[in-house]
Amino acid sequence: MAQLGTDKAIAKAFLEAGNVVGIPTETVYGLAGNALNPDAVLTIFRVKNRPSFDPLIVHTDSFDKLNQFVTTIPDRAYQLAETFWPGPLTLLLPKRSLIPDLVTAGLPSVAVRIPNHPLTLDLLRSLDFPLAAPSANPFGYISPTTAQHVADQLGDQVPYILDGGPAGVGIESTIIGFDDNEATVFRLGGMALEQIEAIIGPVSVRTHSTSNPKAPGMLSSHYAPRKPLILLPAGTTPEPGKRIGALAFREPFGGIHTDNQRILSPTGDLNEAAKNLFAHLRALDNLPVDIIYAEPLPNEGLGWAMNDRLRRASVQD
Ligand code: TXA
Ligand code: MG
Repeated sequence: MAQLGTDKAIAKAFLEAGNVVGIPTETVYGLAGNALNPDAVLTIFRVKNRPSFDPLIVHTDSFDKLNQFVTTIPDRAYQLAETFWPGPLTLLLPKRSLIPDLVTAGLPSVAVRIPNHPLTLDLLRSLDFPLAAPSANPFGYISPTTAQHVADQLGDQVPYILDGGPAGVGIESTIIGFDDNEATVFRLGGMALEQIEAIIGPVSVRTHSTSNPKAPGMLSSHYAPRKPLILLPAGTTPEPGKRIGALAFREPFGGIHTDNQRILSPTGDLNEAAKNLFAHLRALDNLPVDIIYAEPLPNEGLGWAMNDRLRRASVQD
């Protein structure tokens, strides 16, 4: 079983030996390995049971290091990075050959971000290689927002999980690319669109793809619990029933046992809701219920990203 702890030196030693380690970030926990070591990268794919066509995000701690991995940083990418890093924003940038093709699934661009978590930033500073890190969940399942979530699902395959407490943002990073100097969001996430557009102006959003996805986070069925999840039309309520689980925004639903309900934010705060989303979905998935009903969130701020995750969670394979 994985050891949980806060000892950066242990994490460093495992990573330097080519092993994978669970790491905290402000968005979700990552399953990290040396991005420059193809064997470590293969281990990430194997542990997650992730298809090799799904590329990984590379995490680093400084622009200096970033320049070793990418050939150019377009102006708007630079503006965003300067404003929001460290933070929940991933940029797609043209890669240098130092980054193995395995990491990008053969794509010419590499996804990079500087995460905002003190333990992980410290760890990254102490390493002389960047960390490839997908969310630390089995492929297709809900992302982990605590060290214990990682231990519960991948604990027997990961020697060490750096425990940085519950993730502060709670939803994966927003992914943005700059093809032909056009800024396109490929995954809605922890950095709100409004904030991005305030810096670089309007961006296009292309988060749906059914075949050959640019980002498998774009696959229609993803981020899903094992139980069927129904995303309710706005303003409707679930049918009452005994073995029904419910994920509500502010107020519990009537007719459903309170034990089977989770409230995302009693005060209606979308940031608090995002922080709770995956832990609550996981908790509902583990309750003795047959089906989970979820209420859509207001389409503003992190509400867009949460509705995207709920929509994908509601699609059954
Ligand atoms: O918040 C996050 O981004 C977390 C933490 C750990 O940093 N990581 C994360 O990684 O969510 P993952 O692997 O679960 O999701 C990364 C998404 C995938 O949908 C992948 O297809 C896409 O990013 N991606 C990675 N590299 C890409 C590339 N070069 N081009 C297009 N999409 C890419
Ligand atoms: Mg993921």
